Amino acid sequence: MAAEAEPFVKVGGLGDVAGSLPLALRRLSVDVRLVLPLHGVIREQGLALQPVCEFDIPYKKKNLLVKVSSLTWEGLVVYFVDGPLIPPDAPVYSRDHLADAAKYAFFSIAALRLAQELGWQPDILHANDWHTALAVYAMKQNQANDPFFTNTCAVIGVHNLPYLGNGSKSLLNAFGLRPAAHPLLPKWARTLPLPLGLLTADRIVAVSPGYAREILTPQYGSGLDEFLRTRADVISGILNGIDLENWDPETDPCLKKQYSARSLDDRNANREALQAEVNLPVDSKVTLMGMVNRMDYQKGMDLVPEALIDLSRRSRKPPPEWQIVILGTGDAEIEAHTKRLETRFPSRVRVVTRFDPGLSRMIFGGADLIIIPSRYEPCGLTQMIAMRYGCVPLGRSTGGLKDTIIDYDTTGESTGFLFEEAAPQSLMDGMIRAFKAHRDRKAWRELQQRGMAQDFSWNRSAAQYLKLYQEVLN
Ligand code: GLC
Repeated sequence: MAAEAEPFVKVGGLGDVAGSLPLALRRLSVDVRLVLPLHGVIREQGLALQPVCEFDIPYKKKNLLVKVSSLTWEGLVVYFVDGPLIPPDAPVYSRDHLADAAKYAFFSIAALRLAQELGWQPDILHANDWHTALAVYAMKQNQANDPFFTNTCAVIGVHNLPYLGNGSKSLLNAFGLRPAAHPLLPKWARTLPLPLGLLTADRIVAVSPGYAREILTPQYGSGLDEFLRTRADVISGILNGIDLENWDPETDPCLKKQYSARSLDDRNANREALQAEVNLPVDSKVTLMGMVNRMDYQKGMDLVPEALIDLSRRSRKPPPEWQIVILGTGDAEIEAHTKRLETRFPSRVRVVTRFDPGLSRMIFGGADLIIIPSRYEPCGLTQMIAMRYGCVPLGRSTGGLKDTIIDYDTTGESTGFLFEEAAPQSLMDGMIRAFKAHRDRKAWRELQQRGMAQDFSWNRSAAQYLKLYQEVLN
């Protein structure tokens, strides 16, 4: 169960995972089915959905009618849940916490009931993030008096801990659920979907081993670290994968010139094409940086302007030569703040604040360095995609970034650069290290090739999920 999944609906990284993992599990012969809300954006696509069933679920003192339809996509059965609390005109995530809370509580309960309506008894219910966490809680609460789910185990995926599902308090009661009275769960968290899911799931899976450890600390634990430490024995981390076919510099049609690890000279054509595309001076000597990031606080976007200004103020000989192309949308203030850099550095900075998948591919295929200054990063896909394209990552040393980027050294293992603090100075120091390394073209080429040789495939991740499912069933 997920709030979003590609190719039907994608807002962020959860959509990538919920779209790719089920297919990869199917390739391992798992009978997996995907359940999504019938969001307005899905409805608009005019998909050939087949009606499956209709049923009522109790809500307050009345009933709500649930309508389920489905399609088969690459062999995977996908169900879409529709009903009065999933308004056709609402975005996947809105600013209205209460409406979102109601929508996803309804979806969670309805999706759970769907299995019963179908008579399809799952071994594993795999929920993701706060949106579907109540399904885990509801299943566990009813397990004693509902034999249907007696043998079903629950796994909850943690893609982004701080989003707990505020605004759900009255919904528990409305859907006939009791708040948790468990002494280990802090009082404030006893009516929030994600904590309730974390309390009752048989296993908790963070999207990287590093994040699985970090959520046990006060810095990353969102106030739940003490509680999560009591559950440490059921918490683990599995790195997400990327779709190697979709992200392939040998076939990517958005690139001026396709290339592989053996033909990296061809990459220069893409570098020039990128500079020309955004109207930067076409210059082969500069270190060309790129960013493909949601413009928000989590992603550390606000650290970038100050780091670049500091960088330009440093009197070094020779002064570092750099350019940067920044692509992303999100917080209006952060967008505006970042955009101002263009005026300050007209021949070095371009900021593109629109959704532009083609340009993102040109950045991966043409930039030398990709900057990922996240404050926290449960997994992160950007660094994996970048490495596959020979675009060297400079990331903050946190979560999945730390797990996937091997920091530059001279031992011949490294695949990128890490910096420690979520502070402009630390980011700038990282950039300077990278610029210096970039001057050694042979070492740089090897760095690119090691990145390109990493295995970030879904097959590897899916095999780990399957092993985890088997462990939990045993
Ligand atoms: C969230 C996290 C990101 C992760 C993605 C998929 O978007 O912020 O780090 O890669 O979920 O798990």
